[in-house]
Parts: sequence; C-alpha cells; structure tokens
Amino acid sequence: MANKWSKDSWRNKPIVQVPEYDDQKALEKVEKRLSSYPPLVFAGEARRLKEHLAKVCRGEAFLLQGGDCAESFAEHNPDNIRDTFRVILQMAIVLTFGAGCPVIKVGRIAGQFAKPRSAPLEKQGEIELPSYRGDIINNIEFVEDLRIPDPERQIMAYRQSASTLNLLRAFAQGGYANLDHVHKWNMGFVKESKQGEQYEQVANRISETLDFMDAVGINSNTTPELRSVDFYTSHESLLLGYEECLTRVDSTSGDWYDTSAHMLWIGDRTRQPDGAHIEFVRGIKNPIGMKCGPSLDSDELLKLIDLINPSNEEGRLTLITRYGADNLDDHLPKLIRAVEKEGKKVVWSCDPMHGNTIKASNGYKTRPLDSILTEVKQFIDIHESEGTYAGGVHIEMTGQNVTECLGGTQKISEEDLTHRYHTHCDPRLNANQALDLSFLISERLKELRS
Ligand code: PEP
Ligand code: CO
Repeated sequence: MANKWSKDSWRNKPIVQVPEYDDQKALEKVEKRLSSYPPLVFAGEARRLKEHLAKVCRGEAFLLQGGDCAESFAEHNPDNIRDTFRVILQMAIVLTFGAGCPVIKVGRIAGQFAKPRSAPLEKQGEIELPSYRGDIINNIEFVEDLRIPDPERQIMAYRQSASTLNLLRAFAQGGYANLDHVHKWNMGFVKESKQGEQYEQVANRISETLDFMDAVGINSNTTPELRSVDFYTSHESLLLGYEECLTRVDSTSGDWYDTSAHMLWIGDRTRQPDGAHIEFVRGIKNPIGMKCGPSLDSDELLKLIDLINPSNEEGRLTLITRYGADNLDDHLPKLIRAVEKEGKKVVWSCDPMHGNTIKASNGYKTRPLDSILTEVKQFIDIHESEGTYAGGVHIEMTGQNVTECLGGTQKISEEDLTHRYHTHCDPRLNANQALDLSFLISERLKELRS
C-alpha cells in the first residue's frame, strides 16, 4: 500500500457497501457544508479514550461498548437517550463490582446511522427496491422514492448526533451520573424486575460505601470523580464521505482525527486490507475497532493489524470478535495465538450479537439471549486458557422494554416478538436482558479475580 495518506486517499481504493448518489452535485454541496461545520468531539477526548483503552489492553480496565444497531431519526428523543445512557451506567456499576477495575463506557450512539447490508436490493412480493442502508442514507419505508439515497440526510444525521451528544455530555457531567444517584438509575420496568432487585442490592452496597467514605471526609464535593463519568461515543466508519468531512487536523498534536466520534470501527464486510475503509482509518489517530468474523484468517489479521497500528500502540486497536456461540471455539484461539506470537498489542472485545442472529418461525430476525450469554462465557474461558485478557464486550442494546431478542427472565417468545419490535436493523437486548448479561460477566470476572 502506498504510504501517502490523506483524508481523501480512500477515494482511490476499491470500495464496498456505500450508496450510489444520483445527484453528484447535490452530494458535493452537502460535503462542502459538512466540512465547514464544527467538530462533534475533540482530539484530546479521543486521546483520553485511547489511554483508557491502553489500560484495557494491559488488563487494568474493562470495556463496555453498546447501543443501537442503527439510530433512527424517528426515535430521536430525550427519553431514549437517557434510557440507553442509564442502562449503560447500571451495567457498568455491576461490572465494576465484578471486575474490580474501571469500566470504560463507550456508546454506539450519536452517529451510528450507516448500515452495511447483505444484499443491495430488498424484495417484497413482486417489488424490488434498493435496501435500506441507515437513516443517514435513505428511508426505511418500502417506497421507491424514499429508498433513493439522499445526501441531505447526512446533514440531518450530523445535527442529530450533535444534539444527542449535547445531552449525553450533560448527563455525564451535569449531575445525573453522580454516584450518589446510583439508586435513581433503576427506573421504570427494570426496577420491578428480578434484574432490578439484583441491581438494587449492588446499589445498596455502594450507598453504604459512600456513607462510610463521607464519614471520613470523602464525598462528591471533595472528589469530583464521584460526580461525573467519562462517556465516549462510537459508530461504524462506513459512509466515508461523511467521515472525511469531519476529519480535521488537531492543532495541539498536528495529527488527523475524525471528529465525528471518539472511536470508529470497521465492520466485518469492509475490512479488505487494500480497500477504502482500511485506507481511511489507518490515517486517523482515533482509537479504532475492527470486527473479526469467520472469513478472517490469522495472516490477514496480522496484515490488518500492521496497517492500522504499525507502531503497536496500546489502546489504538480493539479487535471485536463476532463468531456466534457455535463457532467461537474454531476461530478465536487461532487468532489469539497469532497475535500473541507476533507480540501485537490489542484489546480483545466480544460482540456476542452478530454471530447469533436467527430467523424465528414467524419471520422475525432475532437472537436468543442464551446464545449471547454462551458466546460471552466462551470468550472469557478461551482467553483464560490462552493466558490473555478478555477485555470487553460490544453489544446492541436499548434502555427500552422492547421484545426483539428471545429469552431472559421475561421469557420472551417468538410470539412476543410481534409486540414491541422497534429496531431499525438488528434485534437489540432490552434493558433487563442487558442487565442479565452484565451480571453474568460480573460473576465470571469475580471468579477469575479470585
Ligand atoms: C454492526 O455492528 O451493526 C454490524 C453490522 O456488525 P458486523 O460488521 O460485525 O456485521
Ligand atoms: Co447490527
């Protein structure tokens, strides 16, 4: 690969999974406008996340990354943002208890709009239309005009990201995330559930500890760390024209950062070593994630690691494995050994969602919670036996009471999928299922520590 990188050098590489815009002039106009808009995040924040991820890389912290499969324009409202945020906080509390180390919180939020698709066209009855590719590109409604990629939607996605991020920053820094409020994060339908009760027990212990600390003079007035949390954003770096527009030189370091999110990841379908997506991310200094699925072999993985992280910097690269409960054993040990043999520094994170998608008998795309839990357990076990660190999880979840994944203590059945199936793409864990998962990981990490 030629070494000369620029924010648009990806345009000279083969590219997959991007829309064809009919009106190039309109697209150029939008890109020009986006390029003049303010950054959404700062380079210094992305650097701070990288430092946190370096800790994960060394086994000193745990990564929790989660949120919608696809954000949508229709569901942009403060309750959704708050509920995703608070369930991530609840999960992080539970995990901190088990792991006994800091939990790094990264949302799939404030920019997770573009989707890769397995087929370019979707057929319903006799009609065939371009597939839905995420709200930043076209409309989910199965109507011909609405499925045509519209560049103006990029501006809408940018504005929604800015507004979401604004609220997230307020939640994270403005008092909502104060550890004194640990009980208040248990809300609504979660509070009444088994997971809510379990959470309450953890929260009680935290309150007791806070009372004790207060008695010896440590509280949120004396210790600002107790008043706020670091919360980071991430999304798939898929629509490269959009990402390029938000890629800027950081005046402090002189380096290039994609200011659309703190962390960007490359999807399983777009990680060709000589392709456009890898070319783009190799030149930005943000922490980068890369999905690793069944088609990736060890040699290619090592090649990709060298392209994305040539200086072997800790925290730069997170490998997000997504094999499915039935396949993890066949793949993960080989990858771990190859990485270890070459001394490559990576964070290992488990995406237990994308390899466990099935079609229910009524046609709904779903995921059994049991398979999700099994894959995470296996992930931790394999790392234990390889002597490496299971550094984190990457999940699709929501704070809402949806019925998209099967099972859990609510025993969601195939029939239940018809009730509250709201996702714009893949099925997400609801808040209870997400908490279930965090208790399982927490228990397992506690065992590992002892
Ligand atoms: C996703 O994370 O939503 C996704 C499309 O994942 P993958 O690239 O692993 O299929
Ligand atoms: Co998905």
